[in-house]
Amino acid sequence: MKQQRILLIIGGGIAAYKCLDLIRRLREAGASVRAVMTRAATEFVTPLSVGALTSERVFTDLFSLNDEQEIGHIRLSREADLLIVAPATADLIAKMAGGHADDLASTVLMATDKPVLLAPAMNPRMWLNPATQRNVAQLRADGVHFVGPNTGEMAERDEAGPGRLVEVPEIIDAANKILAGRRGSPLARVGARPLAGRHVLVTSGPTHEPIDPVRYIANRSSGKQGHAIARAAAALGARVTLVTGPVSLADPPSVDVVRVETAEQMLHAVQAALPAGIAAFAAAVADWRTASAPREKIKKSGAKPSLELVENPDILATVGKSRSGRPTLVIGFAAETENVTSEAAKKRKAKGADWIVANDVSPSRGVFGGDGNTVHLVTADGIEDWPTLSKDEVARRLMLRAAEFLRHSAAAAE
Ligand code: C5P
Repeated sequence: MKQQRILLIIGGGIAAYKCLDLIRRLREAGASVRAVMTRAATEFVTPLSVGALTSERVFTDLFSLNDEQEIGHIRLSREADLLIVAPATADLIAKMAGGHADDLASTVLMATDKPVLLAPAMNPRMWLNPATQRNVAQLRADGVHFVGPNTGEMAERDEAGPGRLVEVPEIIDAANKILAGRRGSPLARVGARPLAGRHVLVTSGPTHEPIDPVRYIANRSSGKQGHAIARAAAALGARVTLVTGPVSLADPPSVDVVRVETAEQMLHAVQAALPAGIAAFAAAVADWRTASAPREKIKKSGAKPSLELVENPDILATVGKSRSGRPTLVIGFAAETENVTSEAAKKRKAKGADWIVANDVSPSRGVFGGDGNTVHLVTADGIEDWPTLSKDEVARRLMLRAAEFLRHSAAAAE
């Protein structure tokens, strides 16, 4: 079966170091990778490290006449199934949009007849500059594919906004989409299942806390985001246990579903489902339950009832702070109506979570029950603002990031 051949063009930017990981991942997925580096790129990563990972010689502007005879730039660009430009700098994008060919990278890009995928990375002001936006629109119109940039903090500490290079799995995912349809793509088989062999535990939906046999305390959670996470994790190859409160959603395919009603039942089901590599607590667990619920329905004709409430166990905090059997990655959610990210950052520490997915659930946002979501990912490294996405896309990105986190923590442990 023919391998996918990737020609990776590395632009000069601080994010160029991520290319090393990208090359490794592409090769793990069965692709062969040949790299072209701009002169500026060689200031950020060395051709030696790139060559060690590609196991091929690296082409730079020092490309000599001899090389040109051996393998011309036309062949270089044609002997690939896909060209990936990462990081795609403002300058490379401008050259492409203008049709310039004054160095090896731009010449190869001009000469190719293969699909091209750009992963931009630059300062937010450079990305938002009308010239860059014009060039991007031109390239899109020319049929060039884009992935990202993401929004978040930049290498320059006090800068934030759109311009971050997307994560490596997102590049692989975008490459897969372009290459899709080519049967037997090794990329499609391996790269698309980064959670294979992992157990992912997800909580979803509201809980119902009984007042009497017919009445209960509930909340407006639809379970859509939690169910989407379970579905995304399964699609990325994980074994998934979904512990869900009462919802009116279909069970996600290929997922073990455990149905519960109360917070206490949810906690027990979660503990029974551990161990897991990733636990995502998306359920809207009731903070309180009634101290006791009578066996008989409370009569309207009797004395006006008063409810005594007691606090429910905090499932996220219980698992996040547990000493043994704690999942490698514990993800909590924070639905806030004000000071969204600062409250989420506090919650991350207080509950022992690694990440908090924070969102604004003011009624005007329509998050509860809706299909869209605008979230901020709060991690130990800072806060990332994600664009408004469907709940499915939030789930997919989150699980791709989670796969990356596990891979890095496994590498660190080795
Ligand atoms: O404190 P708050 O309810 O805003 O925290 C939200 C996060 O904590 C969510 O991830 C939710 O699933 C989790 N949680 C929990 N058990 C509770 C309350 C919240 O797991 N009793």
